[in-house]
Amino acid sequence: MSINNIPVIIKGPDDKKILVVLGEDNIDTHYGTIEVGKITNLPVKINTSKGIELNIYIPSYREFVLNMKRGAQIIYPKDVASIILDGDINPQSVVLEVGSGSGALTSALVSIVGLNGYLYSVDNNKKNQYRASKTLDRYLQSKKLNYSNYEFINMEAADLNLSNFDRDLTHIITDIPEPWDILKAIDPTSSIKWISYLPNITQVQLIHDQLNESRFTNIYIKEIIEREWKVKGNIVRPSHTMNGHTGFLVFADLFI
Ligand SMILES: C[S@@+](CC[C@H](N)C(=O)[O-])C[C@H]1O[C@@H](n2cnc3c(N)ncnc32)[C@H](O)[C@@H]1O
Repeated sequence: MSINNIPVIIKGPDDKKILVVLGEDNIDTHYGTIEVGKITNLPVKINTSKGIELNIYIPSYREFVLNMKRGAQIIYPKDVASIILDGDINPQSVVLEVGSGSGALTSALVSIVGLNGYLYSVDNNKKNQYRASKTLDRYLQSKKLNYSNYEFINMEAADLNLSNFDRDLTHIITDIPEPWDILKAIDPTSSIKWISYLPNITQVQLIHDQLNESRFTNIYIKEIIEREWKVKGNIVRPSHTMNGHTGFLVFADLFI
């Protein structure tokens, strides 16, 4: 198995996780040095130069996005999971994502739409979009997926036009502050599913009213609250820290 360029999690005895991309050089950590030449397969248990045993393995989606380098704020895995299932995104879907950002949602979408679907990912910020494309490359490498079923488009959301796309869209997913601009600009002429991720409830009210005005139906709004628990002997309790609020999800259908 070639391990070159594969993103892995290094997990120490303190349960801390470090995401690194394996290359040819040895890796220095606070646990000691890891001799990369000794990693011939994954997952693996390996002793560092200080004799500390580490687990090295390919990250899950959650571990990948929570430990990767990021610029723009990501959509958390709990919200990504709902976008995919409640949004009914499947291997036939042709998705327009507006707000590539750090590429967290992009990575999940590309792997779900697979070889038969397609993803267009739009952002008006070239630097963020470069970060998103790097994230996606790494994520696909980690899953050994050789997909090219996507394209990044550097564009302002309000300038979007359905003729920008050579496939019929099945979904539009937004993670930008003013998604109603797209609705006004696009005016879909075929059935489509709409999903917006929005941090503020005032934004939710605005997109709700605009979706109504644009003949969308089945408007479904929710917030997902996730609480992790810890077990240590007889002490079984929720984690001290949690993300109290990430964002609201708004789903809607246009039937034509
Ligand atoms: C919060 S980030 C998206 C994060 C992404 N969903 C993820 O999971 O990594 C929002 C992105 O939308 C882009 N953006 C904001 N307003 C925009 C607009 N009007 N048109 C196009 N892109 C926009 C920003 O440049 C930023 O990269």
